[in-house]
Amino acid sequence: MNYSFCGKSGLQLPKISLGLWHNFGYVDDYEEAKQMVIYAFEQGITHFDLANNYGPPPGSAESNFGKILKENLAAHRDEMVISSKAGYLMWPGPYGNGGSRKYLISSLDQSLKRTGLEYFDIFYSHRYDSETPIEETMQALVDIVKQGKALYAGISNYPPEQARQAMTYLREAHVPCLIYQGKYSMFNRMPEDEILPVTDEYGSGFIAFSPLAQGVLTDKYLNGIPEHSRAADTTGFLKREQVREELVAKVKQLNEIAVQRGQTMAEMALSWALRDKRVTSLIVGTRTVDQLKDNLKALENLSFSEEKLSRIDTILDGATL
Ligand SMILES: NC(=O)c1ccc[n+]([C@@H]2O[C@H](COP(=O)([O-])OP(=O)(O)OC[C@H]3O[C@@H](n4cnc5c(N)ncnc54)[C@H](OP(=O)(O)O)[C@@H]3O)[C@@H](O)[C@H]2O)c1
Repeated sequence: MNYSFCGKSGLQLPKISLGLWHNFGYVDDYEEAKQMVIYAFEQGITHFDLANNYGPPPGSAESNFGKILKENLAAHRDEMVISSKAGYLMWPGPYGNGGSRKYLISSLDQSLKRTGLEYFDIFYSHRYDSETPIEETMQALVDIVKQGKALYAGISNYPPEQARQAMTYLREAHVPCLIYQGKYSMFNRMPEDEILPVTDEYGSGFIAFSPLAQGVLTDKYLNGIPEHSRAADTTGFLKREQVREELVAKVKQLNEIAVQRGQTMAEMALSWALRDKRVTSLIVGTRTVDQLKDNLKALENLSFSEEKLSRIDTILDGATL
């Protein structure tokens, strides 16, 4: 595994991290989930990304991860970087959603209980909440770190201007923003112009989520929607209609370049997302150990010729998912 320093911090993250948004809830195959976590760790994937609401049902990915950790990897806690988040709807009423101090701190306490952990390595504000003063959300992160319930603070999905405000606040409070977590893939290039300049300026790392566009940037949808796929799952966040013909046509063309590079489509999409050194790590989500094995192979071929990069740009032509 290759590791990179996360921004200007002393914390190194693996180039590929594992996310537990899908495939780790009570509705999923626990045995496969367990094998994925163990295999990931054996391969040097030290970073596992959670959030309060991952499941389904919400909270169950944290509970399952806690169980896997306790029963298989308990002796290795200090070799791992485990993150969680709060920001989206978690429980009814005014205190289970958003960016209030009340929500962030109570949700973090619940996440610690579910996972059985004493602390998270990284705790994120999962989204910007325009109804809460940003100072309140950031001070909650500062206090969480000062109380030792998390070692570092991060933000996710913040628009560029609010990301600047958040990072300025955290810097002045001497709890610099460790990391920004944002959607980034061939089908979502917004961070290139809008977020990476901010993370670079503030010395924060950047970790990409959904680098495979939830599976669309693999070969799985080239001939329709297979039964075992996120788009076919009723509990998945990828809807059938999002797998648009025009996107699949582009993936077919991209797949030809992948074949020329001796890679699968998934491998190439991941290699491509790592070509910018400001991208600290990619969080992949996997359904099976085999998918994870495939994704790790991306690290064997990270260089692109200018000609291939420009051909990829031409194919993508601003397409977004
Ligand atoms: N901060 C945020 O708001 C936010 C939002 C979303 C995600 N995240 C984080 O980012 C992580 C990753 O997100 P994601 O799951 O959308 O990532 P992704 O890597 O773009 O998509 C994962 C899906 O792609 C398919 N896949 C993966 N590897 C494959 C391979 N080698 N060949 C064929 N198909 C493959 C699988 O789909 P099938 O299930 O169809 O097989 C898998 O479930 C999450 O777990 C979470 O930790 C954060």
